[in-house]
Amino acid sequence: MENDKKILFSAIQPSGIPTIANYIGAIRNWLRLQDEYNCIYSIADLHCLTVEREPKDLREKSLELLALYIACGVDPQKTCLFMQSHVPAHAELTWILNTITYPGELSRMTQFKDKSRKHAQNVNMGLMDYPVLMASDILLYNTAVVPIGEDQKQHLELARDLAVRFNNKYGETFSVPEPIIPKVGARIMSLQDPLHKMSKSDANENGFISLSDDKDAVMRKFKRAVTDSGSEIRFAEDKPGVSNLLSIYSAFSGKSIAEAEKEFAGVGYGEFKLAVAEAVESVLSGIREKKKQLLADRAYLDGIMTEGAETARRLSGRMLSKVYRKVGLYTPKRDK
Ligand code: TRP
Repeated sequence: MENDKKILFSAIQPSGIPTIANYIGAIRNWLRLQDEYNCIYSIADLHCLTVEREPKDLREKSLELLALYIACGVDPQKTCLFMQSHVPAHAELTWILNTITYPGELSRMTQFKDKSRKHAQNVNMGLMDYPVLMASDILLYNTAVVPIGEDQKQHLELARDLAVRFNNKYGETFSVPEPIIPKVGARIMSLQDPLHKMSKSDANENGFISLSDDKDAVMRKFKRAVTDSGSEIRFAEDKPGVSNLLSIYSAFSGKSIAEAEKEFAGVGYGEFKLAVAEAVESVLSGIREKKKQLLADRAYLDGIMTEGAETARRLSGRMLSKVYRKVGLYTPKRDK
C-alpha cells in the first residue's frame, strides 16, 4: 500500500454464495482493477447481522467467501483482504457519522424500505443504519473509487454527502469517493424469470447459478432455463430468455454477442443451452477446485485475513484518530 496509487474499496456481504451475476458484475472486474489501484476488499460480516442469520452459517460463509475471492483471482499479495468485524474502526466511525446523519435520509433509502417489507418481523436499528456503516467502510481509507452496482448507488451517494457534511462542519478530513459503475450490457437475469435480476436470495434455486454449484447443477439449471417463443437465437427485447443466455455465453466465452449469434445460427435451443452451460462450467470448475484447496488450508486463510486486518487497522486507525481529534474528543498526551 506504500505507493501513490489511488485507493479502491469494495465489500461483499457473506450472505449466501455469490452467483455468476456477482462474478460478472463485480468480482471479475475487481481483478482488472487490482493493478490500477490499491485495492481494499472487505467481507461485510457486520452488515449481515441486520437480517436474521444462523450464527454458525454466518461464520462458515464468511470463511468461504474469503476462499472464493482468492479462488476467483483476487491476489492477497496485491490487495488488502479482511473481515469487517476484525477492524473496530468501522463500528467506531459509524457512531460518529450517526451524529451527523438524519433519520429521514435513512428511512427514505430504497433498500431499507424493501428490506423492511421483506423482513417485517425484524425491522431493527441496524437495518436502518446499514448505509452509515457502509459509509464508514468507505471513508476510513481515503477511498477514491468504489465499484458498485446500480442497487448501491444511493448508499454511495450518502457516503459522499456525509463526507462533505463532516468536512464542512469540522474541516477537511475525508476524501469524497467516486463510484465506478460497470458498463451496462452485462446484466445477468434470472434463468427462470429473465425480466428479473439473477439473485442469490431467489427462492427458486433454478433461477441462479452460484459459484459453488457443481457440474450437475450447472448443466441441469441451464437445461431448465426458460427461453422464448420462436426458435431463433438472437439478442432482442422480445427474446429476454435467449438474450440473457447470449449475455452469459458472451461473458464467459469472451466472444461478442454478434459472434455468438453467428455461432448459434440455425442451432436448436437445446444444443444452445448446453453450449452456454459448458462455457460457464469451464470457468466454474477451476474456481471450485481452487476454493476447495484453499478451504482445506485453514491456517493459510486465517493468515491472509489476519494480515489484511492488521493493514486495515493501521490505515483506518489513522483516520479515526483524526476524526476523534476534529470532533473534540480528548486525547491524553503520551510520553515517548
Ligand atoms: N452493501 C454492499 C452490498 O450489499 C456491500 C458493502 C458493504 C459495500 N460495505 C461496502 C460495497 C462498501 C461497497 C463499499 O452490495
